[in-house]
Amino acid sequence: MSTTTTTTTATDLPTARLSLAPQQPSVKFEPVHPTFGAEVQGVDFSKPITEDVMENIRQGLGKYGMLVFRNTGMSDQEFVDWGGRFGEIAEVPPSRRFPTQGLSDPSNLYLDGSIVKPGELRWFMAKETGLFHVDTSYDARRVRLTAIIARQLPPPGTGGATEFGDTRTAYDDLDEETKQLLEDKVGVHSHFHSRRVALPTFPTFAALDPWDYPMHKHKVVVTHRGSNRKDLYIASHLHHIEGMDPAESDALILRLRKMVEQPKYVTKVYYKQPGDVVVWDNTAVVHRAGGGEGEGWAGKYVRDIRKWMVFDNTPEEWGMNEVGTPKHLAGPIIQAKHDEIYGKDTKVFDFDED
Ligand SMILES: [Fe+2]
Repeated sequence: MSTTTTTTTATDLPTARLSLAPQQPSVKFEPVHPTFGAEVQGVDFSKPITEDVMENIRQGLGKYGMLVFRNTGMSDQEFVDWGGRFGEIAEVPPSRRFPTQGLSDPSNLYLDGSIVKPGELRWFMAKETGLFHVDTSYDARRVRLTAIIARQLPPPGTGGATEFGDTRTAYDDLDEETKQLLEDKVGVHSHFHSRRVALPTFPTFAALDPWDYPMHKHKVVVTHRGSNRKDLYIASHLHHIEGMDPAESDALILRLRKMVEQPKYVTKVYYKQPGDVVVWDNTAVVHRAGGGEGEGWAGKYVRDIRKWMVFDNTPEEWGMNEVGTPKHLAGPIIQAKHDEIYGKDTKVFDFDED
């Protein structure tokens, strides 16, 4: 299980403690940004991946926080099986678009293969993915790792990348006063809240007050298990910081979110071909959908990506929440409210997203 993931990198360990796999000469990490993220070369996914290679990958993920693997050739099942070697795959509602258990469907496709279009609820629901976040911080039991595999991509030049923010380095760069203020502070997260952050005046989201639904609590500053570095565990889902004056909490959350959005903390990963994989640690980085470029892809082209997530599997996995608290799905409640306001299958074209 991922508790074996190191708190130091292989190169930091004295030889006598090297119970970890030696660096496999075939596995190379090419940094994609000065402070985090790397593209991995030398892993042949067409053959069984040895435990030594897996351990190199886990250590690389600890150091870099986000890894890219090109043209892996993995099937959906192979992709999930590989994910299981990092830890327990988080249960997700089964997709009806493909049979593999443990894979969720962040594509822009309906079951019949048609594309999500402007005016549809899913179009508006997806807007929150354009804001930096960590996956499932709104759940009592959070995930630690997320991975995406590309299956079908929009044309080059139209966008569809995933962007990442380096929240460990952002934490390092905070002034001492803010670090002291944040120490032991508890963040309260809601999946209704991030929809409202993305589109504050969209009537369906405005009608759903996060306070009326379960919110879940995780510390704002976490120690990343893969590197032993402190990390800002912040997200668009972060509704408030417990014990703070609401206005001060709002201002602080906005300041932290804006800080991480600075270009010096951000890198962008383009999916170049089907089979490309990116895996990241949500306790080391934040991520967001990179949006359209040029003529844009949303509403026009298929973007079929699939993902697994792996539970945190550390003592902080359940945050400040009661162990065993069931997952609370916001989606069906939002759908019901939308139907109540607009009627089923109604397209909303009278809302100005900007
Ligand atoms: Fe996400």
